Parts: sequence; structure tokens; C-alpha cells
Amino acid sequence: MTLPFGDLPGAFDAGAPAYDKLVDTNPGYHKHLKLSAQRMRCANQGDGLRLLDAGCGTGASTAALLAVAPRAEIVAVDASAGMLAQAAAKSWPSSVRFVQSRIEDLAEAGVGGPFDGIFAAYLVRNLADKDSQLREFRAMLRPGGTLAVHEYSVRDSRIATAVWNTVCAAIIIPSGRLRSGDATLYKYLRQSVNRFDGAAAFRDRLRANGFTSVRSATVTGWQRNIVHTFVGQAPQ
Ligand SMILES: C[S@@+](CC[C@H](N)C(=O)[O-])C[C@H]1O[C@@H](n2cnc3c(N)ncnc32)[C@H](O)[C@@H]1O
Repeated sequence: MTLPFGDLPGAFDAGAPAYDKLVDTNPGYHKHLKLSAQRMRCANQGDGLRLLDAGCGTGASTAALLAVAPRAEIVAVDASAGMLAQAAAKSWPSSVRFVQSRIEDLAEAGVGGPFDGIFAAYLVRNLADKDSQLREFRAMLRPGGTLAVHEYSVRDSRIATAVWNTVCAAIIIPSGRLRSGDATLYKYLRQSVNRFDGAAAFRDRLRANGFTSVRSATVTGWQRNIVHTFVGQAPQ
């Protein structure tokens, strides 16, 4: 199943109306996003902080950021108009702003740093040039600012790989087909996760792109050792 990186926002446009219903049936989806947002350790409920939600989709990751940093300013960016329309239909405080842009084109969209934190949930795996974008994220962070990447990564564990492929074949792909009428995005999801870095390789990738204090932790539930929070800091 190949989906060229440039076609992804279009595939998300098509899948947008069904997206929230699908992730709501995934036990732990929202809880795990919130856990990753907590792992950014925003002090004082985010008071005075400026945060970027990169690849915000329908706003699930934005809601997680808002829950842990209700006093922060949050800029939430996504390339898919369909996903953003779902996000915009929800109720948000005035401190949250949605912007349609490819993450690679933030400057052209008028979105610039410095940010105190960047949250990228289920985005980085989908980027054509992960290293350049990670360096760009680092440059957009204040010294000491935090990047949290919430992402599937299974290659370090045979068990995680087996569980992932079983859940995809038995649940994710059939439900995606049933709810959206097209399984392309969900077949892409399965393969993109199988191809993505293992957790150790991704931590190395963060370090190679200039992040310090790199760490990662997994979540609970069936996603244990499948979904991870990777955290790194821009050098002081
Ligand atoms: C799997 S969704 C995750 C959405 C949200 N972060 C969440 O946790 O529910 C991935 C999102 O990344 C967006 N995306 C993929 N590639 C992108 C890019 N190059 N620039 C901006 N958004 C992108 C897609 O449009 C999609 O909405």
C-alpha cells in the first residue's frame, strides 16, 4: 500500500468525517495523547507559554494540550482542510488558533517561533524529510524548549509488531473501510508504522538533529510498546 507523502493531506480530507468516530472507538486514544502532553511538563498550566500543535487534525491532540496547559497560547496547524473543518466545528477558547498549512511551509503561512513547546502527534512518521523537519522544529523552539513526538513505533519489538499487524488486519482496516467507504488511509497507516524507526533509532534521530535530554516512554493498554512519547529539548 503506497500513498505518496504529498497525497496524504488529500487522503485525510477524505477520511476526515469518519476520523473522530474511529479514534473514539480506540481505547486509550485520547488518554494517551493527554499523557504525552503531560510528559512535556508545562509549568503553571502553561501560563505565558506559546505551544505549537503540529498536525493537529480534528483537534484531538489540541484538546490534549489544552487540558494540560489551559493558560497557554496554542497554534494548531494542519494541511488538511477537511480535518481542520472538523476541528473548527468544536468549541475552543480564544487562546487556540487553527492554521491551514503544510508543516514544511509554516513560515509562508505566517507561523513562526519561538515556541516553548511543540507537540507532534502521529505526524512525524508521515513526513517525507523527517530530519529536516526535526531540525526546523528545533530552530523554532526557544533554548530549552520541548519537542514531544507522540508516535507509533514497533520495530524494536517482535511482539509489538505482531500485535500491531493483528489489530490492523482485524479491527482498524475493516472499521476504516466500514466507516469511510475506503480503506486506503488505514492500509497506509499499517505499512507506514511497520516502516517507521524503532524507538531506539528514533531517539538517535532526535539526538542527531540536535535535541538534548532525549527520552521516551510507552503507554498502557494494547498500545503498550506500540505508541510512545519521545521527548527532546532544544539546547540551552
Ligand atoms: C493521524 S492524524 C493525527 C491528528 C492529531 N494530531 C491527533 O492526534 O489526532 C495526522 C494529521 O497530520 C496531518 N499531516 C500529515 N502530513 C502533514 C504535513 N506535511 N503538514 C501538515 N499536516 C500534515 C494530516 O492532515 C492529519 O490531519
